[in-house]
Amino acid sequence: MAQALPLAPVPAPPPAAPAERLFAHPDARVESADIGPRTRIWAFAHVLQGARIGADCNLCDHTFVKGGAVVGDRVTVKCGVQLWDGVTLENDVFVGPNATFTNDLFPRSRRGPAEPAHVSRAPTRVRRGASIGANATILPGVTIGAGAMVGAGAVVTRDVPPRAIVVGNPAAVTGYVDDRGAAGQPARLRAREIRQRQPVEQTPLIAGAQLYELPRISDARGHLSFAELDQSLPFPVVRYFLVFGVPSREVRGEHAHRTLGQFLVCVHGSCSVRLFDGDASEEILLNRPDLGLHIPPMVWTTEYKYSPDAVLLVLASDLYRDEDYIRDLDQYLALLAERPDGCEREPAPAPASCLTPSCLNP
Ligand SMILES: CC(C)(COP(=O)(O)OP(=O)(O)OC[C@H]1O[C@@H](n2cnc3c(N)ncnc32)[C@H](O)[C@@H]1OP(=O)(O)O)[C@@H](O)C(=O)NCCC(=O)NCCS
Repeated sequence: MAQALPLAPVPAPPPAAPAERLFAHPDARVESADIGPRTRIWAFAHVLQGARIGADCNLCDHTFVKGGAVVGDRVTVKCGVQLWDGVTLENDVFVGPNATFTNDLFPRSRRGPAEPAHVSRAPTRVRRGASIGANATILPGVTIGAGAMVGAGAVVTRDVPPRAIVVGNPAAVTGYVDDRGAAGQPARLRAREIRQRQPVEQTPLIAGAQLYELPRISDARGHLSFAELDQSLPFPVVRYFLVFGVPSREVRGEHAHRTLGQFLVCVHGSCSVRLFDGDASEEILLNRPDLGLHIPPMVWTTEYKYSPDAVLLVLASDLYRDEDYIRDLDQYLALLAERPDGCEREPAPAPASCLTPSCLNP
C-alpha cells in the first residue's frame, strides 16, 4: 500500500505591508476585528466589537460604531457621526459631519429596572455611492438610494430615490445628481417651461418623447382644448387615469415602461416631469391644459413638484399590467445596456392628423 505523502506545510500568509494594515490612531478605541485593510480610524473614535467595516474607509475623530453596524469599502464618515445597530453603509458612501442616524422611531427612557428596555431596531440602509450632508438626520427604517445626495440639515423621513437630491424638513426631492455637471453646476438638464403657446405643434425631446401643443379655442365663454383620440394622439388610447391631491413634495412615477406609451396633460395646476434615457435628462413643466407630453416606452420617468391643486390626466396605450413596469433604476440601465449596438428607440409615430384649430372642428 502506497504510503501517503506528508502534506506540505501551508505557508503562512506574508505579513501585510504597513500600507495594507488598518491604521488606528493611538487615541482611538477599536474593539472589532472585522476591519478591512488600509482603513483609517482617527482620534477618539470608538468601534465596538462585532462592527463590520470594509477596506479603505476613513472614520474621522469622534465617530462611534456599534457592534451591529455594517460599513462597506471606501466609506468616509466625518467627525461626530454615530452608526447604530441596524445601520448599513454600502460601498463609497459619504457621511458628512454630525449627520445623525436613528434606530428607534418612538424612543422612551426606561423608568425602572423592572420595566423592559424599549427596543426598536428599524434598519437603515444607505445604498452605494450616496452622500449625506452635514447635520442631516435620517429617521429609522429609511433607505437612501444609490448615488443620492442628502442636503445639509435635511430630515429624511422617507426612502430617497436613487440619484435624487433631497433637502429640507421633511426632506423633499429637488432634483437629480445626473442633471449636474462635473463641477457641480447644472449642465445637462434642459428644463423646459413653455408658458406661451408655441408656433410649432410638436417639440421633440430626448428618447423619442414629444411635447404637443394641443388646440385651444378661446372666446368670451372661456377656453376649449381637445384631441381626437383616434387621430391626434400618438397611439390608440386604451385607458386613462388621473393623479390629484398629491402633496407638492411627493414624487410619483420613478419608473419606466417596457411597452406602454403614455400621454400626459396637466389639466389643472402644474407638475414637473423628468425624463431620463440612461444618459441625458430633461425636465418638463406641465402647467397648461393644452400642453401634452408623449412618453414612449423605455424612458425613465419621474413626476414631482406637484402644485397642491394639480390634476394630471394620463392616457395610456394599454391596460394596467404590473409586469410592464421597471421600477428599479439599475435594472432599467441594465436593460438599456442589453440593447444591441445601433438599436435606436423607435421614433415617435406622427399623429394621423394636424392639431391646429383650423384643421379640427370641435
Ligand atoms: C443639497 C445640495 C447638494 C444642493 O446643492 P445645489 O444643487 O448646488 O443647490 P443650490 O445652491 O443650487 O440651491 C438650490 C435651492 O435649494 C436650497 N438649498 C440648497 N441646499 C439646501 C439645504 N441643504 N437645505 C435647504 N435648502 C437648500 C437653496 O437655498 C436654493 O433655494 P432657492 O432655489 O429657493 O434659492 C447642497 O446645498 C448641500 O446641502 N450639500 C451638502 C454640503 C455638506 O453638508 N457637505 C458636507 C461635507 S463638509
